[in-house]
Amino acid sequence: MPSATNIVWHAASVSRERHEALNGHKGLVVWFTGLSGAGKSTIAHALEERLHDQGRHTIVLDGDNVRHGLCSDLGFSESDRRENIRRLGEVSKLFVNAGIITLTAFISPFRQDRQSVRNLIGNDDFIEVYCRCALEVCEQRDVKGLYKRARAGEIPNYTGISSPYEEPEQPEVIVDSDSESLETEVTRILTVVEARIRPQT
Ligand code: ADX
Repeated sequence: MPSATNIVWHAASVSRERHEALNGHKGLVVWFTGLSGAGKSTIAHALEERLHDQGRHTIVLDGDNVRHGLCSDLGFSESDRRENIRRLGEVSKLFVNAGIITLTAFISPFRQDRQSVRNLIGNDDFIEVYCRCALEVCEQRDVKGLYKRARAGEIPNYTGISSPYEEPEQPEVIVDSDSESLETEVTRILTVVEARIRPQT
């Protein structure tokens, strides 16, 4: 519930249906979850390339990027992560209502927080993609050098090291980024996306 009082919802005259009719496809959230270094952003951007080439309207929301702006007031405690995911769930919903295919790349380590976003968006418009990758492989990649620092005790609450990651129980798609090629992963996700974004009749 909002803390502010005296606010009244204003219904848009350009409705979601009109946005989708103009775009030629439905709005949708493709929610990537997985450890840092599991490939969420890489796969999301590669998927966006493919969708963009098909003339689809897309956006990628990336954890590291939104934490520079919209979520720059948040850290990595459990409650801050919850607020991070809540905010990005709300932002995703706004994009879906504008008929945009919204690809999100957040660790989103807590099952309950991901479930809250699913409830907010609705099952029909939500595809959860679990980027499964062994912690050892993510650590070996250590693209940003943060695992090394977390192991050295320099970063508290680091996911996989000193903060938990709760695996999805029934994601729509699982990609194994330590064994599958990027091409295969993207193609598999694209098939699921295409079945959901069919043009309006
Ligand atoms: S989430 O848990 O709230 O979903 P988010 O995806 O926004 O996390 O941010 C994760 C990114 O922040 C990681 O890819 C990593 O680069 C960086 N980061 C910095 N500190 C931490 C930490 N303590 N745990 C996890 N990631 C961290």
